[in-house]
Amino acid sequence: MTAQIIDGKALAARIRANIASEVTDLHARLGRAPGLATVLVGTDPASQTYVRSKHKACNQAGIQSFAYELPATTSQAEVEALVEDLNANPEVDGILVQLPLPKGLDEEGVLSTIHIDKDVDGFHPINIGRLNMKGRPPLFVPCTPAGVIEMLDATGVTISGADAVVIGRSNIVGIPVAALLRNRDATVTVCHSRTRDLPEKVRRADIVVAAIGRPEMIRGDWIRPGAVVIDVGINRIEDAQSPTGSRLVGDVAFEEARQVASAITPVPGGVGPMTIAMLLQNTLTGFKRTHGL
Ligand code: GUN
Repeated sequence: MTAQIIDGKALAARIRANIASEVTDLHARLGRAPGLATVLVGTDPASQTYVRSKHKACNQAGIQSFAYELPATTSQAEVEALVEDLNANPEVDGILVQLPLPKGLDEEGVLSTIHIDKDVDGFHPINIGRLNMKGRPPLFVPCTPAGVIEMLDATGVTISGADAVVIGRSNIVGIPVAALLRNRDATVTVCHSRTRDLPEKVRRADIVVAAIGRPEMIRGDWIRPGAVVIDVGINRIEDAQSPTGSRLVGDVAFEEARQVASAITPVPGGVGPMTIAMLLQNTLTGFKRTHGL
């Protein structure tokens, strides 16, 4: 079997086009565009790149964006004061504090300062708590995990009743994606660095979500024939053949796994583009909710 390649770039482009057209209508009707504020503390180059692409995507969708860049030496009180200002700013529908924060800052303290109605990342403890309870939907679902579910739905994968294995238990991906799959009635196993016999666990899965941050760790012979593989990993590895000397790979050995899976996401061009599409979607949702829509 050769797997269907799940094209996240194309799916994200469709979602973004729909958002842009809804934003145009709402802007005309309500006299204001949705607004997203980003807070970047420090100068981590990867974070700078991510934040820049979020602003570009907002621009293209007609969403206003406000960029706040603070030095790594900023105090906890100063970051929280900025978040409080944004909570009170009626032009701002969503607040995104780029993670990780520099050492010395308390991430949970900052995230819990964000008003839950503006928590477009879905990382506020109340939203995460609700995501993990039955029948208590959060106001926002974290973007990358939401993108994973969108891709499964767009591919026609049946989640209900499926055996799903999530590899990785980060707050940003592993934990929320496991909750989303469970809420959709999958039977979910969360694996991590202490899991015994990981290949055996992965072999049981109808749906594999890899979010461990280790280049090509999950091999093709771990994948059950016909399984669906969603690769959240983005790892830069050395490659002497590439003009830049490096290239991006996922957590899954793609060329091996595509021979076995029924569908698989590529890296790049898989989950990555979906994260931003879901952020725009969440910002639009927040804006609509503010207007009682
Ligand atoms: N760092 C890596 N992924 C994310 C994300 O989805 N949101 C934020 N705020 N920071 C991140």
